[in-house]
Amino acid sequence: MSLPDGMLSGTNPLVKEEDTAMTTASTARRPAASADTPALIDLVAAVRQAIDVRTGWTDTSELVADQLRAHLPGPEILTPDQRLGRPDRVAGHLLHAEPDGAFSILGLVWRPGQTTRIHDHITWCVVGVLAGIEHEELFHEELFDEALNLIGTRDNPPGEVSGFAPPGDIHRIRNVGDETAISLHIYGTDIIRVGSSARRYYN
Ligand SMILES: [Fe+2]
Repeated sequence: MSLPDGMLSGTNPLVKEEDTAMTTASTARRPAASADTPALIDLVAAVRQAIDVRTGWTDTSELVADQLRAHLPGPEILTPDQRLGRPDRVAGHLLHAEPDGAFSILGLVWRPGQTTRIHDHITWCVVGVLAGIEHEELFHEELFDEALNLIGTRDNPPGEVSGFAPPGDIHRIRNVGDETAISLHIYGTDIIRVGSSARRYYN
């Protein structure tokens, strides 16, 4: 399921409540791993296993990250059309929405120069890079004056998997390379129901 306009660049980073089309899709079919996507079936089962440990968000993000490392699919988890991305913004595709709402799996496609907004999250997140290089900036917000400080950067190549959980999860992801970047994002929430994994935007 492709995510409608107004999502990933300019208005909000990722699947945002501003996106009424996305929110109103709550009654639409829930995309799920199927026989057509055996790699996704294995990943969904592995993520389910990690979540069923029922521990805190930070530990869950690490357990899910371990499972994604063990079951990281290739970019062909997206269709050739999906892998093209979009000229106007980062393209997002909801690949799996767990029936009980425990997690959602999205494929995101960044053409060169495309970016998310600076944001943090409503839940734990795990990201695995499938193609290209994703430049990630990490930020810290000063409590007394809300100043946003860049505290680190990293270039995430194909195969790089990272898990994280609030608080202290303010970041921005940009494609600073000259080839399309593709990554898989797993969120501990029901993206169809809540409309967004993002808690707050800082730019
Ligand atoms: Fe994010």
